[in-house]
Amino acid sequence: MSEAVSAVVHADRTARAFALTSALWFALATSFGMIAAGYLIAPDFLANVEYIHFGRVRPMHVNAVLFGFVTPGLLAAAFYYVPRLLRAPLFSESLGVFSALFWNVSLAAGLVGVSLGYSQGREYAELPWGADLLIIASFGLVIVNLLLTIRRRNEPILYVSIWYAAAAVVLTACTYALGNVVWKPDTGALKGIPDAILLWFYGHNVFGLLLSPLALGVAYYVLPIATRSPLYSHTLSLLGFWSLIVVYTHIGTHHLLQTPVPTWLKTISIVDSVAMVIPVMVFLINIWYTVKGKLGEIHADIGAKFVFTGTIYYFFVNLQGSMMALPDVQRITHYNNWVVGHAHIGVLGFAGVTALGGLYFILPRITGRPLFSRYLADLQYWLVLIGITGFAVVLTVVGLIQGQAWYNGETLYRTLPEIQPYYVLRLSLGLLILAGAWVGLYNVVRSLYFPPRGGVPCA
Ligand code: HEM
Ligand code: HEM
Repeated sequence: MSEAVSAVVHADRTARAFALTSALWFALATSFGMIAAGYLIAPDFLANVEYIHFGRVRPMHVNAVLFGFVTPGLLAAAFYYVPRLLRAPLFSESLGVFSALFWNVSLAAGLVGVSLGYSQGREYAELPWGADLLIIASFGLVIVNLLLTIRRRNEPILYVSIWYAAAAVVLTACTYALGNVVWKPDTGALKGIPDAILLWFYGHNVFGLLLSPLALGVAYYVLPIATRSPLYSHTLSLLGFWSLIVVYTHIGTHHLLQTPVPTWLKTISIVDSVAMVIPVMVFLINIWYTVKGKLGEIHADIGAKFVFTGTIYYFFVNLQGSMMALPDVQRITHYNNWVVGHAHIGVLGFAGVTALGGLYFILPRITGRPLFSRYLADLQYWLVLIGITGFAVVLTVVGLIQGQAWYNGETLYRTLPEIQPYYVLRLSLGLLILAGAWVGLYNVVRSLYFPPRGGVPCA
């Protein structure tokens, strides 16, 4: 695959708008995360400010990272690579910019709703009904733009990144509507166990059918170009795509192994969670063989460096995930900070880091100038890397302490003094990620709108 695939001129206004969206929400979302982490150390901290107490700021943090930072970051890259891979201009840049604005307004409305106490109280589906409709409409606008670009393409062959991007947005619009039970505006929920099953079908598909395919699409685009290497195997890329679609869609019930859902459903979710090794290793073998011997080129391009690091976290989070779906392991790891550690390794370490890589890869290419500061981008890389690796270690240790204690019949409050120092450590590590997010926002804004004078234009 060559980067200079077409003579079409790309305005990239949509990619810019989504890039800015992502950088902005990364800064805001980590700030919410810090407040949540503060409450876990000192529950009385800001206790009289109801709008951001733990029960509200936690879903604000989670929804902001998922739908504000990571998804728009990965979409920015998709809006960059889709027209280039198809050798056609984006169907409508104006529609694209509008969809980014609409996306921001929808998410902000949802978070204000949660902050005012209108949460629907179901994890990853907390946003109030009206905001759900707006989010679905936002996906709709993105889908129209991407599919109509695909329709008027000049390139007959669809590279695997296009498959991933299209599948991610179309399938997520559907699972979002289902999981948020949008046909029941008052509760946004079914009743009892069917509700839990539906919620986790959707909840896990946020990772499996939104973040993962979008991130894999970015990796498949960025790494071959940055290393100037042809993709190791197109057959493997399609095998990885279809096995991801077939296997990942069935595993949501592994979140409910310790609840009275039907055994056959639990069995399917456990078997398919282990079978996830197929799409994951197919992707990793393909991409790692593609870049084999090219670590120098990866190091030279900060975008590729982030994306490659994302693939390493992808390996670890999936290895961990398949183990966590085994009932004997989950007896210790469920209902505690082990899962929060896994969540940060996956959503930040894999998908978030890949989104940052996508941003840094496209920024110089859409502005035609070098990044405002490669130094700041490297600084952000290390702040995020140290922060997330520290999170992984600290939260895993806390999870093991909690899990062992509860397994041995200990009560919750007896474990609290023991885990307090680890929560302080987590907050300190969070400061690194927070600093990285704000540094990144500054770098992105400067690169897009206030470049240094006299910079050398990029090829
Ligand atoms: C082989 C692939 C994976 C498997 C089998 C897997 C398995 C699991 C399991 C079993 C849980 C529930 C743990 C419990 O409640 O005890 C879980 C939670 C979670 N996983 Fe994964 N995981 C995988 C990959 C990923 C990836 C790639 C991401 C992110 C992009 C991710 C994000 C999360 C998050 C955020 C949670 C927390 C959900 C909650 O709030 O309870 N996982 N995963
Ligand atoms: C300053 C950095 C951050 C801090 C201090 C932080 C802190 C927190 C806290 C305190 C929670 C609630 C955990 C609980 O209920 O016990 C949480 C949940 C979560 N955070 Fe973060 N976070 C940070 C950055 C991020 C980033 C950048 C991402 C993703 C890109 C992220 C993704 C998540 C997810 C998916 C959950 C839900 C976990 C679950 O339910 O298992 N966080 N975070």
